[in-house]
Amino acid sequence: MVKAIVVHQHGGPEVLKWEDVEIGEPKEGEIRLKHKAIGLNFLDVYMRKALYETSPPLPYTPGLEGAGVVTAVGPGVTTCKVGDLVAYGTLPVGSYNEERILPADRAVPIPAGVDPVEAACVIFKGLTAQVLVRSSFKVERGHTILVHAAAGGVGSILCQWANAIGATVIGTVSTKEKAVQAKEDGCHHVILYKDENFVDRVMEITSGKGVDAVYDSIGKDTFKGSFKVLKKRGYMVQFGLASGEPDPVSTDMLSGKSLFYTCSAMGVYTEERHELLAAAEDLFTNVANGVLKVRVNHKYPLSQAAQAHIDLEGRKTSGSVVLIPDGELIN
Ligand SMILES: NC(=O)c1ccc[n+]([C@@H]2O[C@H](COP(=O)([O-])OP(=O)(O)OC[C@H]3O[C@@H](n4cnc5c(N)ncnc54)[C@H](OP(=O)(O)O)[C@@H]3O)[C@@H](O)[C@H]2O)c1
Repeated sequence: MVKAIVVHQHGGPEVLKWEDVEIGEPKEGEIRLKHKAIGLNFLDVYMRKALYETSPPLPYTPGLEGAGVVTAVGPGVTTCKVGDLVAYGTLPVGSYNEERILPADRAVPIPAGVDPVEAACVIFKGLTAQVLVRSSFKVERGHTILVHAAAGGVGSILCQWANAIGATVIGTVSTKEKAVQAKEDGCHHVILYKDENFVDRVMEITSGKGVDAVYDSIGKDTFKGSFKVLKKRGYMVQFGLASGEPDPVSTDMLSGKSLFYTCSAMGVYTEERHELLAAAEDLFTNVANGVLKVRVNHKYPLSQAAQAHIDLEGRKTSGSVVLIPDGELIN
């Protein structure tokens, strides 16, 4: 038996229950992993509330991101061995757990020079940022981009990465504290979107030209404005819906400026093992050489996952939030 968070019914943070669970032995193509750390993601909140299309059937253990030591391998596994340090950021859910079973082909080695707690925080969010800057819209030197929730988990890495490539980065955040972090993370301009009209500010900053791409993880609250600030032939990259589902896109919204609209899902870009390994190598290389700083801003014991959800949903967090198995905290 190991300790895990289990969700028996959808709802608020109170549905996250701390329980004993049986995880069994790995089967063909699977590994068992003892977690050192578990990354928290906004997607965990969507699933808990059953707002997300891939919300798992009840009961389930949440979580998509973690890092730890391989403690057993099932038949046919050749990609790792017992004792290896690995990280993963993927479905199936199940990382809010001291130990878990995982498909072996979803685990990637953690290179020397990357701390396992950082790896647990960055693998899912960082692979998302990698896909966003390299594939969904390919950021190049000279581009100007707008990133909403610039001080968030994904936002922090995305802004650092786009800045390192040579883009001009405009970020939106809700508080002055988050604005300071966004600046440190490479935003050339930061807009406090609760106090200022972000559309007017972006047009002012860009001298009326607009931006090449908007990375929008907010949805409902920012959706219309995000289209307004795009240049002709610009890219609206939707990758989250923190404020809810927006109205449908109409052809009118796209045709006037010949805009592109994509809903980007990291999992689709890293489905094949070779795609996952290439993206993870790109990410970990940039973490190890200091181009990307992982902000482990909030640590909670795994048993306190409900409080971590309250703070994430309450917009109280910035950077990455990590859950540490209670046993690991004692050691
Ligand atoms: N498509 C993919 O493959 C993929 C993968 C990973 C994550 N995501 C998405 O990326 C986004 C960021 O994820 P994350 O885990 O790094 O979370 P996060 O950005 O750390 O947290 C969400 C942030 O969104 C902002 N926000 C704006 N309106 C909000 C509202 N009504 N309620 C709560 N927050 C609101 C807040 O920043 P301010 O206070 O500054 O506004 C908040 O801190 C999420 O939308 C997530 O679903 C997508």
